[in-house]
Amino acid sequence: MRWIALTRTPGNSYVKAISSTSARIDPDEARRQHDGYCRALRNIGLEVITLPPDEGFPDGCFVEDAVVVRNGKALLTRSGAPSRQGEGETLRPTLEAHGLHIVQVEPPGTLDGGDVLWVENVAYVGLGDRTNQEGIAQLAAKLGVEAHAVPVPPGMLHLKSGAAYLGNGRLYAVAALAPLAAEIGLDWVPVPEGEEPTADALVFGAKAIIPAGYPKAATLLKELGLQVQPVNLSEFAKADGGPTCLSVIWPQ
Ligand code: GLY
Repeated sequence: MRWIALTRTPGNSYVKAISSTSARIDPDEARRQHDGYCRALRNIGLEVITLPPDEGFPDGCFVEDAVVVRNGKALLTRSGAPSRQGEGETLRPTLEAHGLHIVQVEPPGTLDGGDVLWVENVAYVGLGDRTNQEGIAQLAAKLGVEAHAVPVPPGMLHLKSGAAYLGNGRLYAVAALAPLAAEIGLDWVPVPEGEEPTADALVFGAKAIIPAGYPKAATLLKELGLQVQPVNLSEFAKADGGPTCLSVIWPQ
C-alpha cells in the first residue's frame, strides 16, 4: 500500500500566520525547513505531494487543519479561525484527483484537523476555539466514525498540540492530558518537562518525526522502540505549528 503525505510550501504571506508569539517569521528559512520536513516524510516511507504556496492563506502550509481523510473520504473542515476558512477548498482538486470522496463541514459547525487525535479507529476531538460540538457531530456522521469530544486544555491551540498516539495503547502527552489517557484506557507516556513541543510528534508506524532540539524526548521515544527523526521546525513553532500540522496522510 502507498501512503500519501500532502503538504503545501509556505508563501511570503506566512509572515502573517496566526501566532501566540511575537517572534518574527523568516519565510525563506521556513521554506528551507519545509524542504527538510518533506525529506523526513520521504525517509519514513511516505510519498510526498507538495503544493505551491497559496498567498491568500497565510496559514495554508498547516494543511492538517484543512482536511481530515478517513475511509476514502476527505472532510473539508471549517476552522473556528475566520482567516482559515476556505483552505480546504484549495486542496479539493488534489484530493479528488486521488479518488477521495469530498464532504465538508457546514455552518454552524467548526473543526480544525489539528484537533482530531486518532486512537486506532476512534477520533478524540478537541473542543475549543477552533472546533465546536456541531463540527464534531458532522465529523462523526460524514466520515462514519466514532468520535468523542475532549476539552482542549487552556493555552493549547489544538488537542494534538498536547498529545500523540504512539500505538500499542500508549498516549504521549503533556500532564494536562494525563486524565484523558486514563479515561480512555491508555498508558500515559509523559512528555519530558520543557520539551512540550514534541507532544505534536508525527507517528507513522514505528517511526516518528519530532522537532529538533529536544534530546530527552528523542531518547525516550527511541527507548520505546520508535525510530526518531528530529527536524528543525523553528519557523513553524513561531506560528504554533509542529510536525503533524504540516501534512495530511492517507493510504492510497
Ligand atoms: N498558526 C496556526 C494556527 O493558528 O492555526
